[in-house]
Amino acid sequence: MTTIDPRVSATSTTSPADTGTAGSARTRLEGRAKVTGEARYAADHPIENLAHGSLVLSTVAHGRITSIGDEAVLGMPGVLTVLHHGNAPRLNPEAGIFGPDPGLQLLQDDRVRYVGHPVALVVAKTPEQARAAADALEVTYEAEPHDSEFRADHPAEYAPEGAGTVDKGDVDAETDGAAAVVEQTYSTPEEHHTAMEPHASMARWEDGRLEVVDANQGSYLVAQILVKLFDLAPESVRVRSEHVGGGFGSKAAGPQLVLAVMAATLTQRPVRVVLTRPQVFAVTSLRSATEQRVRLAADADGRMRAIDHESRSFTSTIKEFVELGTELTGVMYASEAIRTRTRVVPLNVPSPGWMRAPGAAPGSFALESAMDELAERLDIDPVELRLRNEPSVGPVSGTPFSSRRLVDCLEQGASRFGWWQRDPRPGVRRDGRWLLGTGVAAGSFGAGPMPSTAAITAEADGTYEVRITAADIGTGARTALSQVAAEALEVPLEAVRIRIADSDFGPAFLAGGSRGTESWSFAIIEAARALQKKLAAGEQAPVTARADTTELIGARKQLERHSFSSQFAEVAVDVTSGEVRVRRLLGMFAVGRIINPLTARSQFAGGMIMGLSMALHEEGVRDATGRQANANLAGYHIAAHADVPEIKVDWVDDPDEDNPSGVKGVGEVGIVGTAAAIANAVRHATGVRHRNLPISLDRVL
Ligand code: MOS
Repeated sequence: MTTIDPRVSATSTTSPADTGTAGSARTRLEGRAKVTGEARYAADHPIENLAHGSLVLSTVAHGRITSIGDEAVLGMPGVLTVLHHGNAPRLNPEAGIFGPDPGLQLLQDDRVRYVGHPVALVVAKTPEQARAAADALEVTYEAEPHDSEFRADHPAEYAPEGAGTVDKGDVDAETDGAAAVVEQTYSTPEEHHTAMEPHASMARWEDGRLEVVDANQGSYLVAQILVKLFDLAPESVRVRSEHVGGGFGSKAAGPQLVLAVMAATLTQRPVRVVLTRPQVFAVTSLRSATEQRVRLAADADGRMRAIDHESRSFTSTIKEFVELGTELTGVMYASEAIRTRTRVVPLNVPSPGWMRAPGAAPGSFALESAMDELAERLDIDPVELRLRNEPSVGPVSGTPFSSRRLVDCLEQGASRFGWWQRDPRPGVRRDGRWLLGTGVAAGSFGAGPMPSTAAITAEADGTYEVRITAADIGTGARTALSQVAAEALEVPLEAVRIRIADSDFGPAFLAGGSRGTESWSFAIIEAARALQKKLAAGEQAPVTARADTTELIGARKQLERHSFSSQFAEVAVDVTSGEVRVRRLLGMFAVGRIINPLTARSQFAGGMIMGLSMALHEEGVRDATGRQANANLAGYHIAAHADVPEIKVDWVDDPDEDNPSGVKGVGEVGIVGTAAAIANAVRHATGVRHRNLPISLDRVL
């Protein structure tokens, strides 16, 4: 029995004979443990002799530390130590998740590079004592001129090497010969992670091993980072993250983890560090603001001749991160010429990083808004315009798609939404003081499995234990992977016991890039096949089989692998207050095979809600000192229940035939295009085009 939020509906049928294996709706295996509080998150584990660390953050945006008043707080109740650049262990600068990450180099020198840069960790016997001493710690700085403002024509701006650069044909020549040209600039603001569970890590040394309980998206990769960062033997590090309350890209190896390991090493006792909500805003990755110029040129019949897209974003002075606003631009539409460029501006701000659908979320706002403007210019329906530009192969690469069902998403979405009854004229539908409008956008996100390993043991009692360093960041991955295993082993779900999120289980990709379930399923299916071979050869339980998909994945065909979507929105705009209310959202998805319709639906709806929040609410604001002025959930508005309308989610069959699980991934495509669909609906309702997010009421009036 499952209970579905009636506002999130889907008409896709699930198997009537519900065996619990792949393809059928199942509630989360750990759902009961979570709602009863039995499930332990990183900050919840009872640990003997536990000490607590509290971060102290820089109050200046640029400069150097001139003194740290640790002596004064060392006498405060319960305080054990104060970690700072003068006594912290030295770190290996080569450490990082995919290459060296200078952002991990905490407390290594006296430099500060943004407001919020960690400058000390106070360790005490209780969290309250640690916090009181951290608040009392006096740090003095010699401030230097800082620059935290993302503005046009920045002198430090540069083109990052290779990132987001595409050239096909001659965009200028194609534009000259076109019947209609749209050229506009769009902007999206700085956005922040607000996962329900704040970042938390516990580290302790036990019998010569570093043991970490952490909130992360990939325990194996995090363990690898610690091995490198602290120059440890690979087998001497164990990282677990059994339950994680949301990740969205922000939970790799966070500052709380690095500092907890330092503190546990120095004090030789277990240390836990939990970020406060303002610290989550201040020190975890954020999504850079973007400013994007899009030029589209088409013939009178709507055939695209040129797509030209430049995206600017900011990075920190610590490391380069490029918010790839142009990510989708070489994938979405056929065009004679396509050109994309990115530029970045290093600022005294926290390092930007991954946030759900990096690049694609802001990029699709610009591209799909521009498509709407082009449709209007050509007097062609915006769904029809997209249909006319459907490519048969990768528009830039010329490589075939593994599967591409965007046309079905658009056509089926339009008919379910009632799109074709729409009067295209703006500002003509009214409901009392509300102006009504509808809008559409298309979306896409990259797919393709990454190397992982898995092990399965056939137990003597007829059950099976699956072990894989997967992470369930709240998505339902644990349940979906159990379903995949049950199907591959041809046994009921109840015969499968899955253990995840323990680096001792071996290498596996992280819950990121929407590729977690896709990558882990591949490894589980291969392990199940290997196990079946052993059993067929007469080996007696208990027997274990392992799989490593590295070579299999390396040998696969080069194809364009992406998920696709269409998004339809209906909005009401209050003509007296400027308030925008989203009345309906419908998302149609083509994302490979759906393993668990229930949790997949939640992923899509969750992404769409995040897109709604991006369209109307979210905006990180910095003041002249470089400090974020709204670093809390009171000032940084995210969509609340009352902001969320009826959401319809459905999908078309889209088995990815070149992949044993058929999965492409559902985590991020839900946010792609949502903000554009809403902005396009606001335009239809009011006649006013909003090219800068969020579409807050002061901007509408
Ligand atoms: Mo996602 S931004 O790859 O966690």
